[in-house]
Amino acid sequence: MSINYSQPPEEEIVTSARILTEDAAEAFLRPRRISEYIGQEKIKDNLKVFTEAAKIRGEALDHVLLHGPPGLGKTTLASVIANEMGVNMRITSGPAIEKAGDLAALLTNLQENDILFVDEIHRMNRTVEEILYPAMEDYSIDIIIGKGPSANSIRLDLPRFTLIGATTRSGQLTAPLRDRFGVTFRLDLYSVEELMLIVIRSAGILGIETDREGAAEIASRSRGTPRIANRMLKRVRDFAQVCASGVITKEVADEALTRLEVDEKGLDSVDRRMLAGIIDYYGGGPVGLETLAATVNEEPVTIEDVYEPYLLQQGFITRTPRGRCVTRKAYEHLGLEFKSDMQYEIQLSEGNV
Ligand code: ADE
Repeated sequence: MSINYSQPPEEEIVTSARILTEDAAEAFLRPRRISEYIGQEKIKDNLKVFTEAAKIRGEALDHVLLHGPPGLGKTTLASVIANEMGVNMRITSGPAIEKAGDLAALLTNLQENDILFVDEIHRMNRTVEEILYPAMEDYSIDIIIGKGPSANSIRLDLPRFTLIGATTRSGQLTAPLRDRFGVTFRLDLYSVEELMLIVIRSAGILGIETDREGAAEIASRSRGTPRIANRMLKRVRDFAQVCASGVITKEVADEALTRLEVDEKGLDSVDRRMLAGIIDYYGGGPVGLETLAATVNEEPVTIEDVYEPYLLQQGFITRTPRGRCVTRKAYEHLGLEFKSDMQYEIQLSEGNV
């Protein structure tokens, strides 16, 4: 979005102010050091060793690949790594690096041991990706100067740097790129206890009054995702201030989240439409991803990256080679009597349906 700050109309000022405030708050909530980062315990334990070792040797940290569903803190973790290493981090994303020259400019501007963070690295184009191989391996790039018969290739040495790649879909990375990362971390969904600590920490930073039960209610409805927990905290605060005493209690959180159509298990209307769709139209499954996506009017990648991880983790759906199936737990959650296809066929053959 481009905003003209010279003479913006009234409405734009309000919109831009709100966006800046929310963004600033988001950045403000991010932990800066490993000691402040809640959750992902195994990753943190390993990171402490790797960053310490690299610092003792005075070297750049080996290249790191972070993968996992959106909102789990891949960018945050990258900036924590930069802070622990005491180096600068440049942030970009796969689709933003359009040409080989864009990548060359980024790489040649790095200082020794700096971090280049590439979000959505699976979306980088192949020509650019090929420049990255020698950059990651030998800290050099070959660039072509000129065109036609007078074109010349020159080798540029780069500072030793760390590439941190983040992706929601590690399966889409090419093998040569994946193999060049020295460390790969998979971020898992957070537990309710971890999310509760994150909510309490964020509430403290933002000056929001919340009791433990209020924080626990937000945590248990945040589908394992800190970004969602922090967003819900802010929305529940709105309800607390306007409709209650200003303090977030269990009752206030429950009322606010119910109004936002987030149920007690953290499922939203799309999740419930997905489960109900598989039951109503496909007898509980299996149903293929594309068909399911069309049924709920979402993109297949959104279903796979955003909705499925939590539904799978909570045991509402299973993935089989023939497609997605709902479980008994999903029927019970929707208040429906459990009928798998097989059960249904038995009842049919017995004339009970
Ligand atoms: N805010 C968002 N993610 C966080 C985390 N993992 N730890 C602490 N605060 C956070």
